[in-house]
This record gives sequence, structure tokens and C-alpha cells, in this order.
Amino acid sequence: MSNVAVVGAQWGDEGKGKVVDIYSARADVIVRCQGGNNAGHTLVVGGEKIILHHIPSGILHETKTCVIANGVVMDPGVLLREIEGLAKNGRKVTPENLVISESAHVILPFHKAIDAAREIAAGKGKIGTTGRGIGPCYEDKASRRGVRVGDLIRPEKLRERITASIDEKNALLKHLGAKTFTVDEIIAELTPQAEAIKPFAKDTFALLNELCEAGKTFLFEGAQGALLDIDNGTFPFVTSSNTGSGGMITGTGLGPKTLGKVVGITKAYVTRVGSGPFPTELECETGEALRNRGAEFGSTTGRPRRCGWLDLVALRHAVRMNGLDGLAVTKIDVLGGSDEIKICTAYELDGKTITHFPGRIEELERCKPVYETIPGWNDEISGSKTVAELPPNAIALLKRIEELSGCPVYLASVGPGRESTIEIRSPFA
Ligand code: GDP
Ligand code: IMO
Ligand code: MG
Repeated sequence: MSNVAVVGAQWGDEGKGKVVDIYSARADVIVRCQGGNNAGHTLVVGGEKIILHHIPSGILHETKTCVIANGVVMDPGVLLREIEGLAKNGRKVTPENLVISESAHVILPFHKAIDAAREIAAGKGKIGTTGRGIGPCYEDKASRRGVRVGDLIRPEKLRERITASIDEKNALLKHLGAKTFTVDEIIAELTPQAEAIKPFAKDTFALLNELCEAGKTFLFEGAQGALLDIDNGTFPFVTSSNTGSGGMITGTGLGPKTLGKVVGITKAYVTRVGSGPFPTELECETGEALRNRGAEFGSTTGRPRRCGWLDLVALRHAVRMNGLDGLAVTKIDVLGGSDEIKICTAYELDGKTITHFPGRIEELERCKPVYETIPGWNDEISGSKTVAELPPNAIALLKRIEELSGCPVYLASVGPGRESTIEIRSPFA
């Protein structure tokens, strides 16, 4: 069977968690490759809602191997609370079904403090981060000052690494007008967490490659989305990792041919949390209606999500960036009840029509969407089990998405629950 990679094709929150949960039934190994607990992946199973920030969304399938690989940044307190939360509901998370890379970087208390203080200092120019310390942690990885899980679980190494960087961090925190830290208080907070994490920590480079060589089927779980990619997204209003299929290679230590089919998840409209350009944003009643019908409030921070019409120019950018084989289109049900639905097919930039996504945000900010209108539908579609059961105008929308993106639709999602899913074609061929 082919491996499958699931990536966000917009600005995050496309419904990756739901799709990964469904595909997990067909995989042996489910891997998170990048990002950290800035992610909030929602699964709705039997009416119960579960939001995962760190643990791969395959964890509800108990016999699978879930891996938090080297490209991830990990907050030990958050991870342990997530494990406890699942255990309270009778879902076992043990070193048998969850493995954490010794090479993953640890989000430290000062990373969170720096993230928060910088956002306050930036005022109106803030990025609108999730405040989870993601950027400062990846900075320390790039500057080779970070603490990895392998350091966290070795007390003498942990003290050595924290001691080496504390003065610089405190100088920065002082400059930002924020509270400073002592080495001892950080060690006191991390020591019990390190003990609890230790049994899960392994060399996942070796493990993943061995599982791959043994012919196991992999499901790669992306976090964030194409337009939040540090290199190819709407910089600087992005996250600090490579959110596309490329990040899955470096984030696991597996070779590029391992990915198999790459499936991009897109809502039937667009949302964004945080600051930055958003050409099809609807700052009007229509946007408000989408937010209410779609319950568009962040899974991680609870912030209202900005809403707008589906943007095919941006989606084509995601197709190129990830080498998408197919799409999963989610939240089609949310568009029900509108007289008409718009999709953006091109931008107008300085009097010219363009069909590519500009690389510079100064240009993107000047882009005006060119829309095509599709008539809406009133039927409730969450119970639809096949494409044929969908209203003709919903089918027309999916066809148009396929034509304009150049990608077949593999899956159509018509409600938050596992059961509200129409699978058109399996990527595990
Ligand atoms: P992720 O970060 O990509 O995993 O997405 P989130 O979980 O942050 O946000 C997606 C939200 O939409 C969650 O609340 C899901 O339960 C919900 N959702 C997913 N698919 C559908 C769908 O087809 N219809 C509706 N109404 N909700 C959906
Ligand atoms: P999932 O995996 C939506 C956004 C933040 C902010 C920017 C930088 O659930 O799709 P960061 O805290 O990463 O430094 O914030 O990125 N962001 C997300 N938006 N979904 C996410 O994850 C996100 N992770 C980060 O809102 O604009
Ligand atoms: Mg999310």
C-alpha cells in the first residue's frame, strides 16, 4: 500500500485532524513531522469532541504507532496533560503506541515568555501568534542553542544547556520588559516532566526508517497550512516551520520517495487566525455568517477566525508547493443556505489579471479577488454518503474546484463527525 501525507492547503484549521483520524484506520504508523502545540486538531467521534495539540490524530486507533518526529517542537507540560486527558477517557497512551524523537526540540518557559512579550511590543504589527513559544524555540534550533528531548531526559545535560543560554534570554526579556528566569526554577519545572517523558523518548530516525524498511504503511500528519510556511507562505505572517510536504522529509529523516500520495486539505471557503493579508476575506455579514455556521473559533486559542470565499489562486500555490495528488474538501455543509457561493479564480493586481500567488506580501496586499459565482443550495447535506446524494450545485462546486486546481477531490467532508464523510477515492492505492 502507498503511504499518504496529509497537508493543510490554506492557513491552517482545514480539518486535517478529521481526515487523519479517518485515514489512520488504513495506516500502521502516524507521524507528526513539524510544528508544535500551535496546532489544534479536532476529531469528533461518536459525538465526542477531542482536540489534540501534540499527539498524532491516529491515537484513537490504539494499536497504531504514533510518532512525534524530530521536526516537531514539544512543550512537555502540554504533552503530559494531553496524555492524561486521553487516559481519563479510557484511551491508553503508552510507549507502545506513542514515541517521541530524542531530536525534537523542547519549548522552554522562556520561549513562551519571549513569544508573548514580542507580540505585546509589536502592538498593531503583531503576527498574532498562538503564544506557545513556537518561533523562539525554532530560533534556538537554528542558532544551535536549543534543548532537545535527548537533553531534557539527561539531568546534567539539561542543566548545562539551560545555563549556556539563560543570560542571553534574560537580557532579551529585560529589554522587552518581561519577567526573567533562573536556571534553578526552570530545572525545577522540567525535572518531573522529563521523568514522565523519558519512557516515550527514542531515536525515531532509526525507528521510522526500520518500520519503513519492514514495509509498514505510513500516514504523515501535517500541521498548520501551506500559506503559513516559513519559506513559501505569507512571510512574515507565517509560522516558523516548513508546513508542506518538504517539511515532512526533514522532519522525520525519511527519504523523499517515502511520502507516497500527498493529499491537501482545503475548506470549501477560507479561514485565517492571526494577522496578515487575506485577499478573499469577508469583513461583512456574509463572513460573520460563515463564522457562525462553521463554528470558526480557534481550537488552540479560541480566537474568532477570519472568514472568506474559497481562493483558487492560493490553492494552486498549495498544489505546487506540496506536489498535491488530490484534495480533501471539508466543511461543504457550512455553505448550505446561501443563495450564491463565490470562488476566487484570479487576482487583479495594479490593473492586470494574474493567476499566480505573489511571493511578496506587499503585492498580495494590493490584490483584489476576481470571482466566479456558483448558485447555492438549501438542503441539509451532513447525512449524504455519496457524491450523487449531494445537491447538484454542491457537485458543480466540487467539479469547479477540480478543474481550477488541477487536482482530483479524494474526499468530501459534510460535517465534523467521522460519519459525515464521502470518500470518492482512497489515496492508499
Ligand atoms: P485542523 O487544525 O486542520 O485539524 O482543523 P481544526 O480542528 O482546527 O478545525 C476544523 C474544525 O472544523 C473542527 O472544529 C472540526 O471538527 C470541524 N470540521 C471538520 N470537517 C468539518 C466538516 O466537514 N463540516 C463541519 N461543519 N465541520 C467540520
Ligand atoms: P493547525 O495545525 C491555524 C498561525 C497563528 C499565527 C501564525 C504564527 O491547527 O492548522 P505561531 O504560534 O505558529 O508562531 O503563530 O500561525 N497558526 C495557525 N493557524 N492553525 C494552526 O495550526 C496554526 N498554527 C499557527 O495564528 O497567525
Ligand atoms: Mg487547527
